[in-house]
Amino acid sequence: MQLDGKVVLITGAGSGIGAASARYMAEQGASVTLAGIPVDGVEEVAAEIAGRGGKTLAIPVDVTREDEVKSAVARTVEVFGKLDVIVANAGIQRHNTDIDLFEMEEEEWERTQDVNLRGVFRTVKHGIAQMIKQGTGGAVVIVSSITAIQGRSANVSYMTAKTGLLGLNRHIAVHYGDKGIRSNAVCPGSLERTPDWDEHPDPEGRREAMMAATPLGRLGTPEDIAPWIAFLASDDAGFATGGHYVVDGGITIA
Ligand SMILES: NC(=O)c1ccc[n+]([C@@H]2O[C@H](COP(=O)([O-])OP(=O)(O)OC[C@H]3O[C@@H](n4cnc5c(N)ncnc54)[C@H](O)[C@@H]3O)[C@@H](O)[C@H]2O)c1
Repeated sequence: MQLDGKVVLITGAGSGIGAASARYMAEQGASVTLAGIPVDGVEEVAAEIAGRGGKTLAIPVDVTREDEVKSAVARTVEVFGKLDVIVANAGIQRHNTDIDLFEMEEEEWERTQDVNLRGVFRTVKHGIAQMIKQGTGGAVVIVSSITAIQGRSANVSYMTAKTGLLGLNRHIAVHYGDKGIRSNAVCPGSLERTPDWDEHPDPEGRREAMMAATPLGRLGTPEDIAPWIAFLASDDAGFATGGHYVVDGGITIA
């Protein structure tokens, strides 16, 4: 199997892309730490995977808390013996409030940055430190977004954070390649549900607009994204680093 023997830590693993990746990567032979909030989410998905014979560990982790991220890496190593792969996936999207640059308070801007950009910084910081300590190399997969390569999104702090992640991705690739550490980013397009979906002001309008703009004529699902994350994490992608991979039904180039 593609990820036989690998130990993977995924943030935001209690739903959506993180949960789909945890399921897929466990099926490919990986031991998976599901880190994230809410705790019910990560525990349920971990139990479901374990029920099918997968090796999992659920850890409540808020990526805005560096101590929690650091402990999750330590606990993963305690339980599974090492860390090979980090999937930095946790994210929020404040549809109703991350929208107007000139009226936005700094606090609103910072809420998204703290999870979507600094949360990834905290995750890769402690994950890469462990990989260097082990001396065995490793793979980082950062979940960015097509909003990192377009200007269309109304969510200004969100798209700025997602763009920043591509810089972080390239930095890791260049500066830790000599340690055998690869880093790649995935840029998903419009999925059927976004983070904080229940707060979306016009779900039906969005669905229609996105479907009309997408050459493949449908919105994506977490299951469309998970195999890309697994592939980039695997040794099959051993010569790929510093890249970002658009998986979007063609909406970006249309
Ligand atoms: N759904 C889309 O259309 C889409 C498109 C492009 C990129 N993305 C990105 O994919 C990633 C996953 O999103 P998703 O679509 O699966 O939505 P999702 O809401 O199902 O997943 C995000 C997960 O992160 C968790 N989370 C939020 N704040 C956290 C924190 N402080 N600490 C730990 N976990 C936290 C959430 O509880 C949730 O489980 C996000 O980074 C998102 O920006 C999604």
